[in-house]
Amino acid sequence: MDVVKSFPEGFLWGASTSAYQCEGAALEDGKKENQQDVINREIHQEYGYADCSVASDHYHHYKEDVALMAEMGFTSYRFSINWARVLPDGIGAPNPKGVAFYHNLIDELKAHNIEPIVTMWHYDLPMATVERGGWGTRAIVDEFEEYARFLCKEYGSQVKYWLTINEQSIVVNYIDRKNKITKEQQFDPKFRYQANHYMNLAHAKAAIAVHELVPGGKCGAALDMAPYYPHSCDPRDVMAAKGANAFKNNFYMDAYIKGVYTPSVLKYLERQGLMFEIQQGDLELIKRGAECFDFLGINYYQSQCVKAPTPGLARRAKQNNKIGKGGHVTYEVQPDLFEGCLNETIGATDFSMPIDPMGMQYVLEDIHDRYHIPVMICENGFGAYDKLEADGSIHDPYRIEYLREHIKAMKAAIENGAEVLGYNPWSAFDLLSTSNGITKRYGFIYVDRTDDEVRECKRYKKDSFYWYKNVIATNGKNL
Ligand code: BG6
Repeated sequence: MDVVKSFPEGFLWGASTSAYQCEGAALEDGKKENQQDVINREIHQEYGYADCSVASDHYHHYKEDVALMAEMGFTSYRFSINWARVLPDGIGAPNPKGVAFYHNLIDELKAHNIEPIVTMWHYDLPMATVERGGWGTRAIVDEFEEYARFLCKEYGSQVKYWLTINEQSIVVNYIDRKNKITKEQQFDPKFRYQANHYMNLAHAKAAIAVHELVPGGKCGAALDMAPYYPHSCDPRDVMAAKGANAFKNNFYMDAYIKGVYTPSVLKYLERQGLMFEIQQGDLELIKRGAECFDFLGINYYQSQCVKAPTPGLARRAKQNNKIGKGGHVTYEVQPDLFEGCLNETIGATDFSMPIDPMGMQYVLEDIHDRYHIPVMICENGFGAYDKLEADGSIHDPYRIEYLREHIKAMKAAIENGAEVLGYNPWSAFDLLSTSNGITKRYGFIYVDRTDDEVRECKRYKKDSFYWYKNVIATNGKNL
């Protein structure tokens, strides 16, 4: 066992989930469909991965799940609210049973001294909102504000930490996979950056709402954060890495934290014919949102490697490994900016996710030095095939090893000045992966179901459960 100095007093130790990936009860108690119910039904048909109709059945197991989190010693739990469960039509009449579910969950957490950290939106727009144009129309800015204000009024007396949007950069980059959009939108190159602009406006309005309506409320957003390394010290690769960091990371952080758009990224978008429309008052709103931004949520899984782009290559997004057998990755290309490539110096998971704990230290220190803002780890985790043994045990040393090294890296960053509020890895219990169903598991708690068979979703404690319990009990001293 590795022993390091313990973490700051009051450091939040917990884990994360998102609503559509774990709740199930997709059409129960007045909830209407959201876009992930539909998207995951299609994924099920195409790849055989589980859909969201039952997921981990958390809707019916939440008390047991919270009791298990309490047994591990959690002092925080990050979860998201399923918009279509509380406001089935996106706006208008609330659904009393859906609203009550989150009150019950929050009460249960509070009863166990677990701090709720609530994400307002984790990929699952109500279908009614999608049908009105989703992130593709300016109208969503007001819809999101109505939803955010509803949440703050309903739950604000018990919830201090709010995250508006989960992984905006991922939503922009995988616009057709994270959103139900039309064919025209899918092929409109400008659409994703226009949608990004509406997300920034919606986020700003929600952040202002948190400050107005939640006494002592703290507002942030969770960003997927991978540092981009140059493949070599060839200045062209170094320039590609600089461009990738600006385009994939700073563009989102600058808007949230400073309330401005990164100049070099705007120039790139203009040159590429991808520039979006900004109306009068928009930039002022983004600035006001930044004044209400208290902490940055960081979802850190991996680093990325880039080189100068091969001339003539068309724009493409990175394709995840769909089969879980090493290799099988298509790297991202942004013409005239960067081309993704393999970093041969580090290893990877079976699902081709590079493993790089030092990248987390790099990100934490870099953000602290440049933005001077508190951060919270809102995701970090190891997706793997886990095996339930006949005696009910699950041996996941690979997950323990991954988390241990990342906690050490986080500690090193704190020692170098980074202000980290807490650690909420992915995921508290097994849930649907966005790309590989329940086949790829992340939890400390095993949920007994497969992609084909729902079974009873019985919970089992993995080896990592006991390990994490000890980490928390020693405030990160015994790793
Ligand atoms: C993050 C998302 O990108 O990564 C989660 O916020 C997601 O929703 C997690 O589950 C792991 O990725 P994946 O594709 O393996 O589920």
